[in-house]
Amino acid sequence: MAIKTRITEMLGIEHPIMQGGMHYVGFAEMAAAVSNAGGVGIITGLTQRTPEDLAKEIARCREMTSKPFGVNLTFLPSVTPPDYPGYVEAIVKGGVKIVETAGNNPAKWLPILKENGIKVIHKCTSVRHALKAEAIGCDAVSVDGFECGGHPGEDDVPNFILLPRAAEELKIPFLASGGMADGRSLVAALSLGADGMNMGTRFIATKEAPVHENVKQAIVAASELDTRLVMRPLRNTERVLTNAGVERLLQKERELGDQLKFEDIITEVAGVYPKIMTEGAMDAGAWSCGMVAGLVHDIPTVQELMDRIIAEATQIVRGRLDKMFV
Ligand SMILES: Cc1cc2nc3c(=O)[nH]c(=O)nc-3n(C[C@H](O)[C@H](O)[C@H](O)COP(=O)(O)O)c2cc1C
Repeated sequence: MAIKTRITEMLGIEHPIMQGGMHYVGFAEMAAAVSNAGGVGIITGLTQRTPEDLAKEIARCREMTSKPFGVNLTFLPSVTPPDYPGYVEAIVKGGVKIVETAGNNPAKWLPILKENGIKVIHKCTSVRHALKAEAIGCDAVSVDGFECGGHPGEDDVPNFILLPRAAEELKIPFLASGGMADGRSLVAALSLGADGMNMGTRFIATKEAPVHENVKQAIVAASELDTRLVMRPLRNTERVLTNAGVERLLQKERELGDQLKFEDIITEVAGVYPKIMTEGAMDAGAWSCGMVAGLVHDIPTVQELMDRIIAEATQIVRGRLDKMFV
């Protein structure tokens, strides 16, 4: 059984399921596994230290899959910005046809991406940003609700409201993101008006995810009560899994109040990803994780996960919902 939506048509994929860019998780192994299983996998551009490294990662991914995959480009305000022109060139020269942008407005990069036939999916956390993305010519958006792992923005609107609001306003297709884990999520996302779903946290707890086993076990062990919001006083809110480093960070936030500066929490937020994802040092500090961890109870292969999602979605619609209409 396949599910055809505007997103599957646009991206040339079998199932309307995308793997969002994830720092130190979105390597070629992750992206290829998702694409091979019929979804669209995403390499995280900025996890590669240089554009040359990204070019190699794209080439590696191409060796592992013949299916479409994409690259995430996260635009963050920074004193010394990464070599964005170099990363974009690596994407274009690497023949990648799907880019997930996130963070700042991607307008500056749209002409070159579109000239090269690349579909741009911008990830945003509010209807107004989604409309802006539509207005500047993005092909689709990924709408991240308050429950999402990573940066939910500052509006705190959960997906039960955000997704139907997006559906009311948008003309371009959109993916539901944040809190998505299984067939129930997919049917709910489609019901609320989305054309597919984007998952982050759920994909980390899979056999192929190229991260330390401790990370996968931490997600399985976590409940929906185990995430925390950090950096809210800096208006750079991030949803992370709690650990000793995160609790220390929150203590500093409470003590310093509106005097808090980034430098005060640098040990708990900077350079943490390699420690967590590669070394499995689970108390190192803040790493993104969604409330959906409460719905993750096992570590299947990506193919098993995808097959299960589609089978469950089919069962819900054909076996359950359809029979309710008498
Ligand atoms: C460990 C981790 C790292 C992430 N890193 C990024 C990133 O570098 N860029 C980005 O745009 N989104 C990033 N995200 C957000 C995901 O792409 C996705 O939007 C989010 O995980 C969806 O919510 P969910 O975790 O509830 O599925 C990250 C998420 C996680 C869990």
